[in-house]
Amino acid sequence: MTWTRWTAVGMTIVTLAAGAISLSCSSNSPTTVATEDPVARGARVVYTSGCMDCHTPGSLYGMPDTTRMLSGSELGWQGPWGISFPRNLTPDSATGIGSWTAEQIVTAIREGRRPDGTALLPPMPWPMYSHLTDEDARAVAAYLKSLPPIVHEMPKVQPPGELPKRPVLAFPAPPEWDGRNLPPPPAASTSGK
Ligand code: HEC
Repeated sequence: MTWTRWTAVGMTIVTLAAGAISLSCSSNSPTTVATEDPVARGARVVYTSGCMDCHTPGSLYGMPDTTRMLSGSELGWQGPWGISFPRNLTPDSATGIGSWTAEQIVTAIREGRRPDGTALLPPMPWPMYSHLTDEDARAVAAYLKSLPPIVHEMPKVQPPGELPKRPVLAFPAPPEWDGRNLPPPPAASTSGK
């Protein structure tokens, strides 16, 4: 037998062995590859998507309050849209989102719309979250529904031009590089020259 034929025989044996291994793996897969628990999956998506930064009190001060996770923050975000507050995402039905269905939560996160049809203001980054898969978005809803409900009435959105009633992160006019392709702010566009 030439060297090439030995190689061919050897390769065939290796290929058959690999096939046998993959066959035995795939026949085991229903028992060995457990599907991830949606709540655990949702927790991972929430932790890695920055939800805590905005929605958990203390987070942006480097000390998230783990006893009141995702119960909303009273640190406002001020911009051309007015002042918005990252809201209470716990399942309290009066002050949180306990009355929302999982599907309504998914729509809010991916399409920026509440069950009553109102749009979510910045800086809620829903345009980024519109890239979540169905499975990940539903897992986020399952995780939010699994949280302990926390009673926390959120401050109301303040319209543009109103003075802040509490501490805010305010966006100054953008520097040249950042603002190059931004539309002019509403006040500048209506002020004539
Ligand atoms: C950069 C800050 C920021 C991040 C990050 C953020 N949010 Fe928000 N979110 C907000 C703000 C501000 C609002 C309120 C917007 C408004 O008043 O219209 C909001 C509103 C919401 C609402 C609507 C709640 C209601 O009662 O109206 C949901 C649901 C929500 N966020 C879920 C999430 C989830 C889930 C994540 C992570 C995947 C997340 N948010 C990440 C700032 C943020």
